[in-house]
Amino acid sequence: MSDPSLNSLNPYLNGLYAPVREEASARDLPVIGEIPKDLHGAYFRNGPNPMSPPSGMHHWFDGDGMLHGVWFEDGRARYANRYVRTADFEAELEGSDAMPGIFAPSRRVDGRRTYYKDTANTDVIVHNGRLLALWYVSGQPVAVDAETLETIGVEDFGGDLPNNVSAHSKVDPRTGELVFFDYSLYEPKMSYGTISTDNRLIHFQEVSVPGPRLPHDMGLTENYVILHDLPVVFTDSAIRNRLWQIHVADLPTRFGVAPRKSGDVKWFEFPTSYIYHVINCWEEGDDVVMAACKMVPNGFEPDVASFGPYAPMATVLALRAQPFLWRMNMKTGKGAETQIDDGLSEFPVVNLDHSTGKARWSYHVVMDDCVLQRFSALRKYDLTTGVSEDHTFGAGVFGSEPAFAPTGPGELDGWLVTITTDLDGNSEARIIDPKNFSSPPVARIKLPKRVPAGFHATWAKAG
Ligand SMILES: [Fe+2]
Repeated sequence: MSDPSLNSLNPYLNGLYAPVREEASARDLPVIGEIPKDLHGAYFRNGPNPMSPPSGMHHWFDGDGMLHGVWFEDGRARYANRYVRTADFEAELEGSDAMPGIFAPSRRVDGRRTYYKDTANTDVIVHNGRLLALWYVSGQPVAVDAETLETIGVEDFGGDLPNNVSAHSKVDPRTGELVFFDYSLYEPKMSYGTISTDNRLIHFQEVSVPGPRLPHDMGLTENYVILHDLPVVFTDSAIRNRLWQIHVADLPTRFGVAPRKSGDVKWFEFPTSYIYHVINCWEEGDDVVMAACKMVPNGFEPDVASFGPYAPMATVLALRAQPFLWRMNMKTGKGAETQIDDGLSEFPVVNLDHSTGKARWSYHVVMDDCVLQRFSALRKYDLTTGVSEDHTFGAGVFGSEPAFAPTGPGELDGWLVTITTDLDGNSEARIIDPKNFSSPPVARIKLPKRVPAGFHATWAKAG
């Protein structure tokens, strides 16, 4: 039985975050403005959407994955949303007991590396013409049809995949290869590998770390991966009892730079910090450079008292991060950390055609009040100067992570696409000109259903 009073206290089950139950499809959506004629392709966004009201304590990160897609062609737009039908989702539909979320004791199941419900609700990437929905705990990637959003199935790359694939694994725009990372409480605690353009595992390497870690992202350049050994670690009890108990340890932050296809990991140590999201990485001479949003809590205490038992969850989810740059010299072994700007922003993206090289422009979301994860504006950064410009959505309107839709070779050739939702439940896809970033959107497409706030997005080129 669900507990309505408990669910009513959970800010991430209500308002902007309330799940939608229907899977919808709609064509020829109404448009304010004009959809650019050169915009061909689709914007996809993943996020948590519990299929039924939770029966106990529920973490925002635990909701079943749901993909929302907006396709653009010849000045017209269509929309669909579908659940990501993971193996755990299907088993629950067929009557099995639901796997637990992270507030509940985990359940040991032989052969699994994770003892929580694998939702694939976090990230969505395009590889070999299909979507892959990915989970932040590192789970089974789920292949999804990029035209229909119907789940194709769990992807094990012909049986080659040794373990799991984490959210924020990356596709190289030059080679089309998928470079993934995996992490776990158990051996191997960290690893990375490469999937080819014909869906085969062509490289896999285990990485030695001092204990189980909870990284969230990785870096990718033309020749290197950058792995994160961050000081958020599982407790000893968590490891023994398979519980979701983590704490911030008095350990340095370390980035491991390793050749993409084989070779030793070179570790660089920096002052303690946590990083959710990498902006972009590239090489400059002997330097491997990573731009990322670094958490800067600075003693901030969000007002979460009204959330009752969900106050600790809301505190952890209150994102306060600033853009930083880390330079790691592969010849000297020396590292340097510099701050790009002191403004608060997160969920950074770049024009993915320019990722793994030195992209100049990044696009972030700006938090409304840093209590809940709701995004009142987008921010465009010139990473070379730290100068930024904001695009606001309007009072009471909140956005999603944007995606850059390239239409030409230049880094600014294209459009920025996002989904917004207002407090009355109206959702729109908005198309923003990156060259006139603070101007109103060139088109606002009315979506047929409310799109709850969610996690990560991507752009898929047509064809
Ligand atoms: Fe993420």
